[in-house]
Amino acid sequence: MKIAIGSDHGGIHLKETLKQHLEERKIDFEDVGTYTEDSCDYPDFALKVCEKITDGSAERGILVCGTGIGMSLAANKVKGIRAALCGDVFSATMSREHNNANVLCLGERVLGPGLATMVLDAWLDTEFAGGRHQRRVDKIMAIEK
Ligand code: RB5
Repeated sequence: MKIAIGSDHGGIHLKETLKQHLEERKIDFEDVGTYTEDSCDYPDFALKVCEKITDGSAERGILVCGTGIGMSLAANKVKGIRAALCGDVFSATMSREHNNANVLCLGERVLGPGLATMVLDAWLDTEFAGGRHQRRVDKIMAIEK
């Protein structure tokens, strides 16, 4: 699985923790920035990650900002993206199993690194259940049209 990962300045430290974890798990990823602690605009990085997914160069994306809220708002404006802001393992699991979320949003100022890593693992390791959930996801995607 190829992952695109991005953050603003508010999420850059948690992003580094998550990148290290992805390396340990031998999961291929591309960091689209930001690369410094200088103040920047989270929608720019949300768009970069989402475009990696929509152009087929990544299967899924991870976005980190201070709260995860701005990233999720921006990512869900991009056609084909189902971004889930998750603050717990249950939500992360359900976002995959029921919603087939292709982007995980996390808040560095909300979650500690330990919980964020557990949330990421749950999200990475859960498959979409399909069935009745496919019909509902199809209805979400139909709203874009
Ligand atoms: C940046 O200060 C902060 O607004 C951003 O990281 C994020 O939390 C927005 O939703």
